[in-house]
Amino acid sequence: MRVSLTAVVLLTSALSLSAEAFKCPRVCSCDRAKLTVTCMGKNLTEVPPSLDEISLKLDLRNNNLQVLSRGAFSHAPYLTHLHLQRSNIITVKEGAFRTLGRMVSLNLAYNKIDILYQESFDGLSSLKELNLDHNRIEEIQPGAFSQLGFLNTLDLTHNQLVYIPNMAFQGLNNIKWLRLSHNALNNLAPEAFAGLFTLNRLSLDHNELQFFPTQTMTRLREVTRLDLSYNPMTYLGEESVSMAKLTHLYLDHMSLQDLSDQALSGAPHLTHLDLSHNQLRYLEPLKGPKELGSLNLTGNPSYCNCYLRPLRVWAGLRGAKLLGVCAGPPHLSDEPLQAVDPQDLRCRSRGETLQDELEREEARTRDASPTEKPKPRAKCPGLCDCDTEAQHATCEGRGHTKVPRGFPVKTQLLDLRRNHFHFLPVNSFPGTGQVLSLHLELCRIHEIEAGAFRGMKKLYYLYLSDNDLTSLDPGAFTGAPELTYLHLEGNRLLQFPGPALKLLPGLSVLHLERNAISKLDPAGLLSSVTPLLRELYLTNNTITSIAKAALDSAHLGILHLDSNQLTEMPTSALSKADNLEELKLSHNSIRWLGPDSVQPVSQSLRKLYLDQTGLEKISGAALGPGLRTLSVRGNQLKELPDLSLLTGLEEVDLQENPLLCDCSLLHLRRWMENVSLEVVATCGNPPEVKGQKVKEVSVFKSCPENGSPPEVKVVVDSGLSKPKPRLSKVSAVKARPAKPRNKQTKTGKKKPQRRPPKTPKSKKTLI
Ligand SMILES: *[C@@H]1O[C@H](CO)[C@@H](O)[C@H](O)[C@H]1NC(C)=O
Ligand SMILES: *[C@@H]1O[C@H](CO)[C@@H](O)[C@H](O)[C@H]1NC(C)=O
Ligand SMILES: *[C@@H]1O[C@H](CO)[C@@H](O)[C@H](O)[C@H]1NC(C)=O
Ligand SMILES: *[C@@H]1O[C@H](CO)[C@@H](O)[C@H](O)[C@H]1NC(C)=O
Repeated sequence: MRVSLTAVVLLTSALSLSAEAFKCPRVCSCDRAKLTVTCMGKNLTEVPPSLDEISLKLDLRNNNLQVLSRGAFSHAPYLTHLHLQRSNIITVKEGAFRTLGRMVSLNLAYNKIDILYQESFDGLSSLKELNLDHNRIEEIQPGAFSQLGFLNTLDLTHNQLVYIPNMAFQGLNNIKWLRLSHNALNNLAPEAFAGLFTLNRLSLDHNELQFFPTQTMTRLREVTRLDLSYNPMTYLGEESVSMAKLTHLYLDHMSLQDLSDQALSGAPHLTHLDLSHNQLRYLEPLKGPKELGSLNLTGNPSYCNCYLRPLRVWAGLRGAKLLGVCAGPPHLSDEPLQAVDPQDLRCRSRGETLQDELEREEARTRDASPTEKPKPRAKCPGLCDCDTEAQHATCEGRGHTKVPRGFPVKTQLLDLRRNHFHFLPVNSFPGTGQVLSLHLELCRIHEIEAGAFRGMKKLYYLYLSDNDLTSLDPGAFTGAPELTYLHLEGNRLLQFPGPALKLLPGLSVLHLERNAISKLDPAGLLSSVTPLLRELYLTNNTITSIAKAALDSAHLGILHLDSNQLTEMPTSALSKADNLEELKLSHNSIRWLGPDSVQPVSQSLRKLYLDQTGLEKISGAALGPGLRTLSVRGNQLKELPDLSLLTGLEEVDLQENPLLCDCSLLHLRRWMENVSLEVVATCGNPPEVKGQKVKEVSVFKSCPENGSPPEVKVVVDSGLSKPKPRLSKVSAVKARPAKPRNKQTKTGKKKPQRRPPKTPKSKKTLI
């Protein structure tokens, strides 16, 4: 008691002493007890040099500072709060805040800053809040925020950003909320938000994103709230949103005309979805979100007929609130969606609908006759529906044998699937220069003549899935240079259609599943044909061989080669694919995973799938430290390498392997006890424990305390080199730090990306 009393007395006297001695700059006013200094609106052109060293808070709002030079605050190292709003600051020099290691809150809003330099915020190692809103920032240099490991909130709203480069926010290891609203963003690099493992809220509203940035967003595992309101998106395709923890998604005030029922299939925890003020006439029940509590459709032209009934029923069943009113038909206008009886959501019979259509067709011909003045009405080919407001046209499954012509010139989405075109001649789509997305699935197409898509200069998505193509003419895609997503799955292609793809410099995602491709050659196939390809899907072909270096492509991130006939790891084919993150090889015949077998991609690889390949052995050295998913289900593995070294693992599937449960597997048992992962592994041997869970068997009790992990046996005649020496003590098994690894190793060597030219707006944003 006495001791603490003495301490209090000492402290108080120290404070009063300092209060008396506290220097206050001449033009400022000071609170000596609180150690705060206020110099608002004094037209100061520099930070007052006579600040007391022990000042805690400094308010310099409304001055005329212009430049904050290096060490501008070095005479006040204890500052915790600094207000610099509206101080006409144009430049923050590198190292301006270098000495301010105690700073908690820094406000630079309403200034004229245009570039954030690499070391602008160096030294602010305790900073929690940084306001940079209402400036003119158009460039963030790499590493600008790298020293702000404690920052919780970063406000960059109301600036002039058009592009976020890879790794822009690297170093923000504790960021919770990142605010980028009210900029001019039209492009986010895939790794723009890499490293933000703690981010749970992201605001991107009031920007110019035309597509949902799926790739970029999928990396944000912890985000629960995402605001994309007021962006000019027109369509949300399948699996656009893949964010495991997302609960609140704001997509209001956009230009959505369509939203796939699978768009949110990767957002299982979504509870609030705001789609208000879009152009949605119909919406199907959403696959994926199981806990949706509220769906806001206010301000959409919701048409209350039978097409809306499934949604209404679905929402009713799960007690999800549907907000909004019917826009038609007349007898239901303005009725709240929630209040409409599903029974009343009806369509007239198909016969009537057809009759109606014929009449319309007649009326159209009449209108066009010279005797009557034609009324301005939207043109639309027969047996098609054109929604000019939504810029959609569909002729799905209407028995067309030739591609209909005469769609409204502004059409952006053209859906022709399930017709019988058989052959697409040159110039099949005149007058469709605005179409972004063309659906031709299930149209029995066996040939595409060179120039068939001529004039489709904006075409971005092309769906040719499930047709009868056996080959592609080298000129098949002439005239559609913007094509970025190409679906050719479910055809009968015998070869990789390299020559045809050469005309598509921007191709980023290519689907070739379920074809009959048997080999991939020559060397350099991808890099010479589609240098920007990021995702290549070749599942379920008959591939037996892949030429050396065939798949070397600096951008390739996802490669699916599962369900083929490979007999070994395609190591040499990937010798320079050093950004590969996901590799699927399940359902091939690969019995060994040698120490060097994924070596070329081991730094970047995050997901590896080798289910049902007859795998008998995995070398520990084969698995890179950044691996997050490892799936080796249904193989012949008797032993496993020490997984405790893979500290980033988030998902492991070891089921259906005949593991040998003796002391050599003790490392696995210990690892399983210590990690927060759900790991199921079953013993296959010895016979007395066959079928029991590794977690439950008692055989490990009798093992020596520091039983060493198994030797990885080297099979002399396999040509595999000896595995690297490994830690042999079980104490090296770490509790899993749930934190995914930083990707620095991977991206660190890349040159930092610069902002691309401002105009024309890049359309390469990935959705
Ligand atoms: C502020 O200072 C600048 C020069 O430093 C001067 O031109 C301007 O008139 C001053 N404004 C006020 C309101 O004192
Ligand atoms: C639904 O959207 C409207 C219009 O954007 C908004 O005013 C309203 O607050 C929203 N309702 C809910 C419950 O989110
Ligand atoms: C591969 O595709 C064929 C034909 O589409 C299908 O019958 C078969 O089930 C598929 N195999 C796998 C493993 O997906
Ligand atoms: C499991 O993790 C704890 C810390 O969480 C650690 O003390 C212990 O040594 C670990 N056990 C093994 C077997 O690694």
